[in-house]
Amino acid sequence: MTLDGTRILLVIGGGIAAYKALDLIRRLRERGARVRCVLTEGAQRFVTPLAAAALSGERAFTDLFDREDEAAIGHIRLAREADAVVVAPATANLMARMASGQADDLATTVLLATTAPILIAPAMNPTMWRHPATRRNLETLRADGVAVVGPNAGPMAEPESGPGRLAEPLEIADALEALLGARIPATAGPLAGRHVLVTSGPTHEPIDPVRYIANRSSGKQGHAIAAAAAAAGARVTLVSGPVTVPDPPGVAVVRVETAREMEAAVEAALPADVGIFAAAVADWRAAEEAPSKRKKDGGAPAPLALALNPDILAGVAQRTDGRPALVVGFAAETDDVIANARAKLARKGCDLVVANDVSAAGGGVMGGDHNTVHLVDAAGVESWARAGKDEVARRLVDRIAALLAARQEGTP
Ligand code: C5P
Repeated sequence: MTLDGTRILLVIGGGIAAYKALDLIRRLRERGARVRCVLTEGAQRFVTPLAAAALSGERAFTDLFDREDEAAIGHIRLAREADAVVVAPATANLMARMASGQADDLATTVLLATTAPILIAPAMNPTMWRHPATRRNLETLRADGVAVVGPNAGPMAEPESGPGRLAEPLEIADALEALLGARIPATAGPLAGRHVLVTSGPTHEPIDPVRYIANRSSGKQGHAIAAAAAAAGARVTLVSGPVTVPDPPGVAVVRVETAREMEAAVEAALPADVGIFAAAVADWRAAEEAPSKRKKDGGAPAPLALALNPDILAGVAQRTDGRPALVVGFAAETDDVIANARAKLARKGCDLVVANDVSAAGGGVMGGDHNTVHLVDAAGVESWARAGKDEVARRLVDRIAALLAARQEGTP
């Protein structure tokens, strides 16, 4: 069983989706986990502590100041005796309280007192989910290292549809497995004991609540690299923009939407031995996100002011403190592929650039399953024959492991 012997603390928030948390308890136990539940006051309006206790086979906890609860297991013990904490449903209110570090009930106190990895599964009305305050809280939580699963888009309890539905219990269990799997120290493989940070996918830069700036990146190459690094024994953190490809097994995935969220998640994931920046980060974002949908209003269209996004790769490669031993960038080019990659190597300060031709002549690399790459570093250029993205990922990870070993032995 994949969660065999793990101790999971499930914090149930106060939303209509709380009933799904009961199913989650069963799913986690099916995979071998021991589950203890904490219910917020709001949660108890939707599900009872008795139901949570019956399904978990353990007492359910509700009150910070309850003498019986505290006598049975104090809040600090609840926080300490967990290998992971799952918050489902994570309501807008609970996310806000977590983001601001409040400890005004048992749930938030335990969340503040734990050092275990935290996974939240948000669920709320789509308008609340899109509200700038919730976006801010989400960004803060991600920067604090909190993993997020969902929410999914679809019909809601209310007559409104959009992102806000709680992820399905099986999806939450899978995300938890990935989070914990990535923390089990690897003992075998050329990257055993190493932490590898990978960025992947596009970023979405909102213009208004319905529109965004994006690109055609699918995340296939970056995700394949994360999977190959995990298979090589590394602990892998994958910071991914919005993609439809599945999470690679055994990898901790941090999902982000914008370049600035990606930058914060990368900072939070450091230190790492290797940074591989395969994401197609949007160079520009809308200078200001309109709070409501921009209207046509006839006449000439209002110009869209743009602001430059942070260069995440350059920021990490040029760190004087805590720079990964090896920083690898990607260059998706439509013209002068190698000359542009050489210039990028110098300008960004990375150790290796993996260049590919994404023009139509290059064979539909973006979104496709194959890639033709050229490895550009200070020593020169090495061109590889066209291959599947998984194969490219495996070869690249082998090369990175060899470069890292050579560096640490003091040879160039
Ligand atoms: O400058 P350009 O976008 O062509 O550089 C591509 C490389 O830089 C990729 O490795 C990409 O992940 C990284 N990058 C980044 N942050 C940006 C832009 C690009 O990390 N804002």
